[in-house]
Amino acid sequence: MPSLSRRHFFGAAAGVAAFAAAPRLVFAQAPAAAPAAAPAPAGPFAVPPLAYPFNALEPHIDAKTMEIHHDRHHGAYVANLNTIAKANPQLGTSAITDVLGNLNALGDDIKFAVRNNLGGHANHTMFWEIMAPGGGKPEGEVLAAIDKDLGGLEKFQTDFNAAGGRQFGSGWVFVTVAKDGKLAIETRPNQDNPIMDGKRALLGNDVWEHAYYLNYQNRRADYLKAWWNTVNWSKVAERYAAAKAGTLGV
Ligand SMILES: [Fe+2]
Repeated sequence: MPSLSRRHFFGAAAGVAAFAAAPRLVFAQAPAAAPAAAPAPAGPFAVPPLAYPFNALEPHIDAKTMEIHHDRHHGAYVANLNTIAKANPQLGTSAITDVLGNLNALGDDIKFAVRNNLGGHANHTMFWEIMAPGGGKPEGEVLAAIDKDLGGLEKFQTDFNAAGGRQFGSGWVFVTVAKDGKLAIETRPNQDNPIMDGKRALLGNDVWEHAYYLNYQNRRADYLKAWWNTVNWSKVAERYAAAKAGTLGV
């Protein structure tokens, strides 16, 4: 009986298919049943979007490093700040420069966390801003200040790289700019920022291992050298003018 045979065949085939599919279905459902990652707490702080794709700075900084650094590391500082701001709403309504410039005004219960997480938010916001594909060279007033205060471009970059290499553990190497426009190379540990002692960062490079380890491993010196290919000098020039005008934020 062909039709019965066919029904039997299809029935059997369906049974086999169902049997074969079952483990896959169970498997497919398993991740959905697992606890989802907790959404980042909403609040007044947000990671600023990059003005370029994650892979835009390759080969100097690889796309995966940029993605993890921007979305997860900076994201964690922002998430922590939003958690702190729930119980301390004034944190979200104050200028970042005011808070970082007056950390001692904060209660002891949040001072350390604000220093680390708001410092990290400020540092990384600056960092994404002063990079761009294509790099370029300093010119105009910034170049004149580099020549005057830092011994010229070549010496400046050599000294900056050496300072970044000497920073023990995690931290940053900055060019700070004073109100009169004077430049200096300075390092800070952890997520400290020159705003904390009344200065401003004109530019800075992140020497935490999370900034380079996927591609450079322990070769921080190679990362520091390659990083110059990513510096957005036209943005640095804007920051320099703003610093002299007293309007530079983070
Ligand atoms: Fe970082």
